[in-house]
Amino acid sequence: MQPKVLVAPAPLKEIEHVYGPVLRGAGVEMVFPTRNVQMTEDELLAQLPGAAASLAGSEPYTRAVIEKAAAAGLSVIARAGVGYDGVDVAAATDHGVAVTITPGTNHDAVAEHTFMLLLALAKNLITQHTAIQKGQWVRRANQPLRGRTLGVVGFGRTGKAVALRGQAFGMPVIAFDPFADKDFAAKHHIPLVELNDLLKQSDVVTLHMPMLPGTKHIINAESLGLMKKTAYLINTARGGVVNEPALYDALKNNRLAGAGLDVFDEEPPQPDNPLLQLDNVVMTAHTAGVDVQSRDDMARAAAEAIAKMLAGEWPTGWVVNQEVETKWRARAKK
Ligand SMILES: NC(=O)c1ccc[n+]([C@@H]2O[C@H](COP(=O)([O-])OP(=O)(O)OC[C@H]3O[C@@H](n4cnc5c(N)ncnc54)[C@H](O)[C@@H]3O)[C@@H](O)[C@H]2O)c1
Repeated sequence: MQPKVLVAPAPLKEIEHVYGPVLRGAGVEMVFPTRNVQMTEDELLAQLPGAAASLAGSEPYTRAVIEKAAAAGLSVIARAGVGYDGVDVAAATDHGVAVTITPGTNHDAVAEHTFMLLLALAKNLITQHTAIQKGQWVRRANQPLRGRTLGVVGFGRTGKAVALRGQAFGMPVIAFDPFADKDFAAKHHIPLVELNDLLKQSDVVTLHMPMLPGTKHIINAESLGLMKKTAYLINTARGGVVNEPALYDALKNNRLAGAGLDVFDEEPPQPDNPLLQLDNVVMTAHTAGVDVQSRDDMARAAAEAIAKMLAGEWPTGWVVNQEVETKWRARAKK
């Protein structure tokens, strides 16, 4: 019998020509969600059991979902992307399910998006645009990027791509990362500093760390209090790394000049989320990592991860829960 793969993100159906050949070449039958929106836990509970793999987006792979699907033969959750906070990785490991990501496919897209948000803030894009639409012609000086210090928090693939673009804009760059790539920092003359020093010194703080128990609300009232009143905060990482009420408070009371947000604590944000009403916030709908190039690259790479693993290969750099290998191989033999 052909193994089934659930292609969970609804929009991927439109680009089946990108990853379909990889999966079909692996002898796989593809199944798609029934609705054209992000799958809920209930929908995963109904549709995932029976599939050998999920080509996964941001839908919730809870312990209940993984337990039921693993009992029915699930062996791989292959994220088309690099963040895996939507997957209960401990549950996957417990049930012998490998979780993979697609490193190297979307960091440049996020870096470009980061500068879109930053430029929109610094150049008053939204206020000018909406004023002109209303027939107003308000001309006032906006902010430069050149000469302004860019503080990169989380100096991995995306953080480094943002740092290089910052240098191209003439911005002095500093970075914080507990596991920083010191060679890269030295090569590009980027001082590595402690987080509090970065917050104090930066004119722009941009967040690129993963969502982990240790990074939850790492940006809070205290850390925002260290930032310059004239500074901007850009978050394209995950909503949970910022304490939203504290951010609102700082922005509302002019203790921070502005924020560019691609991610929120709750997505989509509730309509009464007060951040939505502020003029010094620019927002996008968690689209930083998804341009048409990165979308295709992520989908193809996730399909390749599935094809490799269904053939018994172990793509080391892509597997998040390396410790599951023995259990995973034992299940694959059954
Ligand atoms: N908005 C989007 O569409 C989008 C797209 C891609 C990735 N992301 C998010 O961006 C994150 C980073 O992606 P990446 O590809 O650069 O990942 P990466 O793994 O290459 O880099 C993350 C870096 O964060 C560092 N880090 C870990 N704990 C930290 C801490 N407490 N403080 C500061 N740094 C810390 C790590 O050492 C690592 O160098 C992802 O985990 C994901 O959540 C968002």
